[in-house]
Parts: sequence; C-alpha cells; structure tokens
Amino acid sequence: MSDLDVTTLTDAVLARMSAQVTPRTRQLIGALVRHLHDFAREVELTEAEWFTAIDFLTRTGQNCTENRQEFILLSDILGLSSLVIALNHPVAAGSLASSVLGPFYLPDVPEVPLGGELASGVPGTPTRYTGQITDTAGQPLAGAVLDIWSSDGEGWYDVQKPGPLQTSARGRVRTGADGRYAFWSIKPADYPVPTDGPAGELLRAMDRDAMRPGHLHFIASAPGCASVTTQIFASDSPYLRSDAVFGVSESLVAVFEHHLPGVAPDGRRLEQAFCTVNFDIRLRPD
Ligand SMILES: [Fe+2]
Repeated sequence: MSDLDVTTLTDAVLARMSAQVTPRTRQLIGALVRHLHDFAREVELTEAEWFTAIDFLTRTGQNCTENRQEFILLSDILGLSSLVIALNHPVAAGSLASSVLGPFYLPDVPEVPLGGELASGVPGTPTRYTGQITDTAGQPLAGAVLDIWSSDGEGWYDVQKPGPLQTSARGRVRTGADGRYAFWSIKPADYPVPTDGPAGELLRAMDRDAMRPGHLHFIASAPGCASVTTQIFASDSPYLRSDAVFGVSESLVAVFEHHLPGVAPDGRRLEQAFCTVNFDIRLRPD
C-alpha cells in the first residue's frame, strides 16, 4: 500500500463509500468531501484554524434550543438559505416570491377570525393588513391560509422574550369566499439578527451589519397551489438594500400607509396613529 497524501486523500475517502449507497447520497456526500478537501488545500488550513472551526460549529449546535435555531441563522447570514430558495422556487408569472423562513417560526399557532387581531398587546404601531389571494390566472382562492409571525414594534419576537412563551404577533387567518384576507397586528420594526452567539461572531469577523429591514413573515397556502414561505418588507426601512440575510426582493416591498388617530377602514376607532397595508398574493399551481 502507498501512503495517503495531500493529493490522494480525497479519492481515498470517496472510494470508501460502498456500492449500496444511493446515487443522490453519493452525489451529496461526494461533492461535500471534494469541496471540503479543496477548501482546506486552497487556504492551506492550519490545525489551529481547523480547531477554531470545530469549536465554532460545536457552539453553534450548543446555542440551539427549542426556541432558537443558530444553524438556520448561520445559513441565513451566509446567504445559503436564500441560495437554496432561489434554486428551488423559481417565480412564475408574477407569483409570490419566496424568502427565508428565519429562526423564529412556530408551527401550530391558533387561527384568528378574518379581520381579527394578532398583536396580543405587544408594543408597536397598530397595522391593518389586507389583500386578495388569487391563483396565477387571477381566480380568487377561498380558504387560503396565511400563517403569520413577526417581531413587535421594538424588534423582538415572542420567542426571544424571557419567561414562559406567550405567543404574540403570530397567528393564522383564512381568506373568505372572495379570496380576501384582513387582520390586525403591528408594524414590525427593523431589528438586528441575534449577535450574542456564533453567528454574531461571524458577522463581526466579516465587519458586517446585523440589521434586517422590518418585515412580516408568512407562509401562504391554498389547496392545489404551491405553498410559499416569504416576508413582506416595509418600504420606508433604510435597510432594504443591506438585509443581513439577503431576503429582500423588489416584489416583496409593501407600502405601510400612516394614518392619524381616528376610524380605520373596518370601523375600528383608534386613539393612536396606525398604518394600513394592502398586499395582494398570487400563488402558482402545485
Ligand atoms: Fe424575521
């Protein structure tokens, strides 16, 4: 046998996979090993740097909890999440564009009645969101569901707050027979992604800004249509062009119209200034 060296090690690792390995698994692991080895050769990785990376990934895992997903955040700030979305969700004929899921999604949140309130008392400018959900042919989609979550008006998600979880600025609404939706929440604030963990260290190492433009997350779904995970962004944010997670696209920017205290379009009387947003959604066939 000949000793393995810098040039022969990669092929030796690839050759060790058995013939039983499925073609896709072989492709995925094979490419991972080749790129990983090429990376180490290209940068002439030192042992100290290798250990720094091991420690970084270890702590990334240790920072994950039921309510915090540091690996998704890491993927987001490296642009990998947006790249995977771009690869998997081509936008068809004006259909709703996708954006990153982010680390703060919770499944199984309660449904609120059409026109209902999601904010649950969090700070922020009351905002009425409306729009119509149609298919790409323009047919209204009755019974389409928006699964919504956002930060509050100070930039904090419910899951980031100390103490037992009390969900807020979160919920589902279902469209009526005309495909229209409406709900109240708040205008989400610009906020920094969490920088107190390894993802934050990496941002500092790259001398990068952690800010995201204010946005409302939702997953739009309807029978017969492809579900879309996305966000709408406030057009007045100064961070639209420097989003820390590369999630903004032009079609997802919405105008939040500001109103003085008074009566909202649905008859609700407000003692404080409020916003209204209209955002129509087109879903492509499944
Ligand atoms: Fe977010």
